[in-house]
Amino acid sequence: MDQDTADLSRHSLMDHAVQSDPYDFHALLHAQCPVYRMPETGFYVVTRYDDLRKVLIDTGTFSNSLPSRRALKGDLGDLYESLVAERGWRHVDTLQSTDPPAHARYRKVLDAVFAGKRMTAMKPHVEEVTNGLIDDWIGDGQCDFNAQFAMKLPGIITAEQMGLPREDVETFKRWADNLLIVAATPQSEDEVRSSAETTLEMQHFIAAELEKRRSNPSDDMLSDLVHAHEDDPLSMEELQGVMGQLIGGGYETVQSALAHGMWQLVRHPELQQRLRGDAGGIRKFCEEVIRMESPVQSLMRRATCDVELGGVLIPENSLILARYGAANRDPEKFACPHQFDVDRPNVGAHLAYGSGIHFCVGATLARLEMNVAFTALLDRLTHVELAGDLPNPVHRQSLHWLPMKELVIRFSAS
Ligand code: HEM
Repeated sequence: MDQDTADLSRHSLMDHAVQSDPYDFHALLHAQCPVYRMPETGFYVVTRYDDLRKVLIDTGTFSNSLPSRRALKGDLGDLYESLVAERGWRHVDTLQSTDPPAHARYRKVLDAVFAGKRMTAMKPHVEEVTNGLIDDWIGDGQCDFNAQFAMKLPGIITAEQMGLPREDVETFKRWADNLLIVAATPQSEDEVRSSAETTLEMQHFIAAELEKRRSNPSDDMLSDLVHAHEDDPLSMEELQGVMGQLIGGGYETVQSALAHGMWQLVRHPELQQRLRGDAGGIRKFCEEVIRMESPVQSLMRRATCDVELGGVLIPENSLILARYGAANRDPEKFACPHQFDVDRPNVGAHLAYGSGIHFCVGATLARLEMNVAFTALLDRLTHVELAGDLPNPVHRQSLHWLPMKELVIRFSAS
């Protein structure tokens, strides 16, 4: 396809096939129209690295305060909100959906929860969970890496953080999947009703766990949240909002990163030998994985005024699709952007965790999980390869995330 003349209107980010493998379309946008108004939605897609950084850093012009779900999802958004509010806690904007100065109220607490020292202390536990999961299937010579490892590791770690026992990881997965569907996938009325029920089940579990810590504090995440700002504590609505973001943000993302990391090892078998036991090399590998296959492909912003970006005038109140997955393959920033290269001089200079005040609060935990996982996997498995065809499309349908459907591999135990 000639990138300079191909007709952009023949491709749509709303198509499942394009969402699953968006990189040809991103390359067309880089070549022809780096700030592109999607005709189907009116969203302005920002694809260049430098433009995206401007959007992420200038919170006065590019706001995280978006129209309500009603405006984005119509009457069904309204129905969902009212069903949840009847027997649970209504949505209030917190953390990711706030701008300064409100954002700092939530961020301060979470920066303490995810402080580096606390994450370092978690390492032995992450190693134990990782090795336990590998023990479950290493004797079989084959597994669905996506279902039997990539989903389980972040599921168990985040479920435990919110007070669920490890055995309930499937419950946690159901809650996390539901949050992402509500956020970004079209639904029928029946699906909306069923989603609201799942949200209510999750909210009541969280409320009970938080109340336990209110009277009986311990050294965990929920205690920190419930006892934050003693002079002006977070309300139950705010606590529910923050918890929802930690569940949604901490699970599907790491799962996608782990699955794509394994996929890269299968595509580049020479790396399996080269990286074994090389902590520095594994660190670079993990960063290159999330540059190439950014688990968060996009998120939204709203223009607070008329603004010019990349030569395009974006009118006030337009919605912007901040496209991390495209910026991370911008040829002006990364040489040969579609090549997986752990030796690139600017490895790690990606925007996969964002930039500015909303920079991923869980990045240290995500990096810990990825590094521990690939250290153990490379130690214990050799000759890893695909054990069949990948599904087509490879990913489940989603505009914003990149969730793999399955990844069946075979290997030898070392
Ligand atoms: C590889 C894994 C991950 C990726 C690629 C990722 C990506 C991102 C990105 C791109 C943002 C910035 C959003 C923005 O610009 O508005 C973000 C924010 C956030 N992430 Fe992550 N994330 C990952 C793991 C995690 C984990 C493990 C957690 C929690 C346990 C988490 C929780 C959050 C939260 C709560 C925010 C909002 C922060 C704020 O608004 O101040 N993420 N993440």
